[in-house]
Amino acid sequence: MDSKKYVSEINSTENLETLGELEIKYLGRNGLINDLLSKIKDIPNEEKKAYGQKINELKTSMYRYIADKKKELQSKKSNVFFDKTLPGKSYPKGSIHIVSYAIEEITKIFEKIDFIRVSYPEVDWEYGAFESLNMPANHPARDDVETSFIDTPAHSTLGKMVLTPHTSNGQNREMKRVGKPPIRMINISKCYRPNWDPTHTPMFHQFEGLCVDPNISIVNLKGTLDHFAEKYFGKGTKTRLRPHHFQFTEPSFEVDISCNNCHGTAKVDGNKCRVCKSGWLELGGCGMVHPNVLKEGGIDSKKYSGWAFGFGIERVIMMKYGLDDIRNYYSGDIRFLEQF
Ligand code: DAH
Repeated sequence: MDSKKYVSEINSTENLETLGELEIKYLGRNGLINDLLSKIKDIPNEEKKAYGQKINELKTSMYRYIADKKKELQSKKSNVFFDKTLPGKSYPKGSIHIVSYAIEEITKIFEKIDFIRVSYPEVDWEYGAFESLNMPANHPARDDVETSFIDTPAHSTLGKMVLTPHTSNGQNREMKRVGKPPIRMINISKCYRPNWDPTHTPMFHQFEGLCVDPNISIVNLKGTLDHFAEKYFGKGTKTRLRPHHFQFTEPSFEVDISCNNCHGTAKVDGNKCRVCKSGWLELGGCGMVHPNVLKEGGIDSKKYSGWAFGFGIERVIMMKYGLDDIRNYYSGDIRFLEQF
């Protein structure tokens, strides 16, 4: 039994694998210590006690030497593999989807001028989408808006359920929620119309402005539109109103903004502007809220007046960045989305 030899063998070990082998050799079931213990039967009786004690001491010290060595080798091992100077792993960075980003930008612009951001249902009753907006049942104006109906039984007074084709359904809800003007609403929500081409996707987003108070006029509407155009599209962007017809506004207009590519001149370096062709780009619809719509919302149309507008989010993004196919927004193509 050469304990010095065992200890030096353990101490000179340079890796954990060899140490593991030594552990088995000395302390394993068929190892040296058990072998020595089994030999106790051949030892004369008077020496048995001292022999047993010696083997046990040897066993305890071997355990300790092996454990200490193991610790030492493990710490060396982690030192070798941990190099603080190596560059860390970098993970791909995500970015906010352009539509979410635009929603945030638009919300901020309107919140700064005291509008309240709401988000009314994208699944609503016919009442909210049409009737409350001066479009009674069977009115031909309903056909202008292609609508998807939900296959559930109709409500006795509110009509069928629809995937709302515009955010104007928020007008009646907001008037009823607020009760007494002032009302300054910006309703941003998903809308649905069954179209699929470079400028339409079946699901899209609109933002709807509504302002009701005493003496609200077209001047307030124009001022707010100018403010939005400058803030969202950039300084110097102008708006213009063209007469139009909507059931829920009277008078009604379509809004254009001046094209930022040619600054409203329709010409770039003597050639026709590629982006707009006329100096103007169409933004969406607006007008003075029809008295019937105010009445339906529980608002006295003799005391109060208001304006409203509804624009497409995908459309304003397209106009801002000069994009030509909004289907890309929802293609899931990271190369497209990463650009914003
Ligand atoms: N709801 C209309 C649409 O989706 C847009 C619109 C036009 C909204 C005029 C308005 C408005 O609030 O006054 O085509």
